[in-house]
Amino acid sequence: MAHNELHDIARAIVSDGKGILAADESTGTIKKRFDSIGVENTEPNRQAYRDLLFTTPGVEEYISGVILFDETIRQNALDGTPFPKLLESKGVIPGIKVDQGAKPLALAEGETITEGLDGLRERLAEYYGLGARFAKWRATYSISDELPSEYCIWTNAHALARYAALCQEAGIVPIVEPEILQEGTHTIEQSYHVSCKVLAALYTELSDQRVDIAGTLLKPNMVLSGYDAANRAGVDEVAEWSLKCYYKHVPAAVPGIVFLSGGQSDEDATAHLNAMNAKGPHPWKLSFSYGRALQAPALKAWQGKPEQVEAAKRAYYHRAKLNGAATSGLYAPEMERETANV
Ligand code: 13P
Repeated sequence: MAHNELHDIARAIVSDGKGILAADESTGTIKKRFDSIGVENTEPNRQAYRDLLFTTPGVEEYISGVILFDETIRQNALDGTPFPKLLESKGVIPGIKVDQGAKPLALAEGETITEGLDGLRERLAEYYGLGARFAKWRATYSISDELPSEYCIWTNAHALARYAALCQEAGIVPIVEPEILQEGTHTIEQSYHVSCKVLAALYTELSDQRVDIAGTLLKPNMVLSGYDAANRAGVDEVAEWSLKCYYKHVPAAVPGIVFLSGGQSDEDATAHLNAMNAKGPHPWKLSFSYGRALQAPALKAWQGKPEQVEAAKRAYYHRAKLNGAATSGLYAPEMERETANV
């Protein structure tokens, strides 16, 4: 596998105006999303919902890649086309979540380690055959006065790097996702310090494990005040603290930083991304890999009703378009009120 193919895929994912739809909710996580709109979590409903998203006309103008879950990469669209083939036919790159979840870290109360390395080489080969050209592995960290521990930071960095090396060997671009959860009352300075430590460890391990950084993408949290903090930082401050952290700790060889939304409102996630890009140019592309912040309006519009599918597609298209604008710093809150036309 020539490494420049990995570079090409990584760069294509962050090509101008485009980002990623994270549609890789596990069966348990999608249940939470469906519960919020009173839809039963059955395989036909999951298929109908993903079909709605992936067949939205024109959304490929703003969406370069979609992260799938194991069930979805093997599933067909409603017209019988395998989902990865459907995406490829629109010029959208299929991706796959390959971690097997964050589990309690031994002897470290309140902390997690992400599992899924055993058998990963074989799973990656199979996913490549099914069309996946990029993958995702998510580690999670909590912030408190004591957490995260060095132990949690380094064990997760080690696992992320082992995953990334295996991906590159398989011809798959690894998205490395160290997610520092922003639940809690921490200040933005605390979020900044923890984000810096986590990224420093991650890039040390990636380098030690011979990962070609130019063939990876980073999917981090933004640096935010805790969701329950008093006096939460505003949009400009979030952009400043976040950029300060990435300038210190993300090598310029990384082609793109594709943010997770992590429980921010869809409008906040778009405004924060926009504010960072408005301060550009930067050494890396700054784009999105949103799950909730891209899907929330579509879920709300859909409600599991076939007659609402078109409205849901319009809502998803509109959100993707606004995030596309935010990748160039061209989003304005007034655009929220535009009619969502497909
Ligand atoms: P959110 O944008 O909803 O945080 O999801 C992105 C993701 O892929 C989390 O792993």
